[in-house]
Amino acid sequence: MKRFLSAVIAAVMLLTLVGCSAESQEELVSGDVTTEPAVTEAPVSSEEVTTVSEETIAEDTGSVDETEEPEEAEGEESSEELTVTGYEITEVEMVMYATDPLNVRLGPDAMYTAVGQLAVGDAVNVTGEVSNGWYRIDYDGTVAYVSGDYLREEEVNVEDEYTTVDSGDEYYFQTEEDYLILVNKTNLLPDDYKIETDYVQGSYEMEKTAAYYCKLMIEAAAADGINLKVLSAYRTVNYQQNLFDRNVESRMEDGMTYEEAYADTAVNIAPAGGSEHNAGLAVDIITEDDWDTYTEFEDTEEFAWLQAHAAEYGFIMRYASDKVDITGFIYEPWHYRFVGVKYAQDIQDSGLCLEEYLEVNGY
Ligand code: DAL
Ligand code: ZN
Repeated sequence: MKRFLSAVIAAVMLLTLVGCSAESQEELVSGDVTTEPAVTEAPVSSEEVTTVSEETIAEDTGSVDETEEPEEAEGEESSEELTVTGYEITEVEMVMYATDPLNVRLGPDAMYTAVGQLAVGDAVNVTGEVSNGWYRIDYDGTVAYVSGDYLREEEVNVEDEYTTVDSGDEYYFQTEEDYLILVNKTNLLPDDYKIETDYVQGSYEMEKTAAYYCKLMIEAAAADGINLKVLSAYRTVNYQQNLFDRNVESRMEDGMTYEEAYADTAVNIAPAGGSEHNAGLAVDIITEDDWDTYTEFEDTEEFAWLQAHAAEYGFIMRYASDKVDITGFIYEPWHYRFVGVKYAQDIQDSGLCLEEYLEVNGY
């Protein structure tokens, strides 16, 4: 009996992974029951979802692509100062403020290595104005550079400066509040819900503004020596339906009745159209090199980093262990929901789950 129970628990654990499955699970599950393809299904259709082109992402804030270092930067990555040639620099002395999350680089161009980031509203001591529109700054004692496109002399009120990636008037997300959309078992996405997506890591995509911030988050974590691995992100509604069905079937093959299998699946996996992954606003994150820590993700340094910093990038851990009765889902320390930079910290600090927060605040 004990062995049977262990087998059931093991099976359930395995299937729990599937709720947010992706490529690495090919290593741990066999057959077609639980494996999510490395390349997620094409989003809805190419007419309905347009992948955002590089140009729509702020040139020096969103990209995780580190293009080749320019000649003069070679071998200089770890040095505190880089001799920058080919630019005129006017000496200045002033304080400026970041209007967007912004990379701090070793040279005045996006090609140079990022050594840190500024958050919206951060003040910097500017020491030089570069002829190409970048600024030289004193970055905690290090000479570094930031793009002038996202700095200004007036102080920045964080709440007023929320950045959305440019969109047309018809796009679903127009304001910060729109990103508070509640998606759960009883609040399914509308049939005409359409988004534009962008890549966050490998083949994984999210809604384009969520993707913008997710990439910044991953890059900031990397700068702190933390490697965040995306395990699942945007899923089509069809994919979600298949995922749900496969999980029910699998549990039945393991001996559960249909009712038991359905109920157990339903606390792990959202119904089609009721998943934040379908909205393009959720990302599942695990450790870089060890899928096994997925179930114990809360004990990892990656989790600790996310607890401290995810909200700065507009993300909250969505399914807390003490909110299972309200969310209807098991504790998922790996599932992060983009709610926007303006509200994420407040939601996290409130200790409320999104359902409660929206109700308390009258949204
Ligand atoms: N695992 C979460 C609840 C989802 O399927 O969206
Ligand atoms: Zn998830």
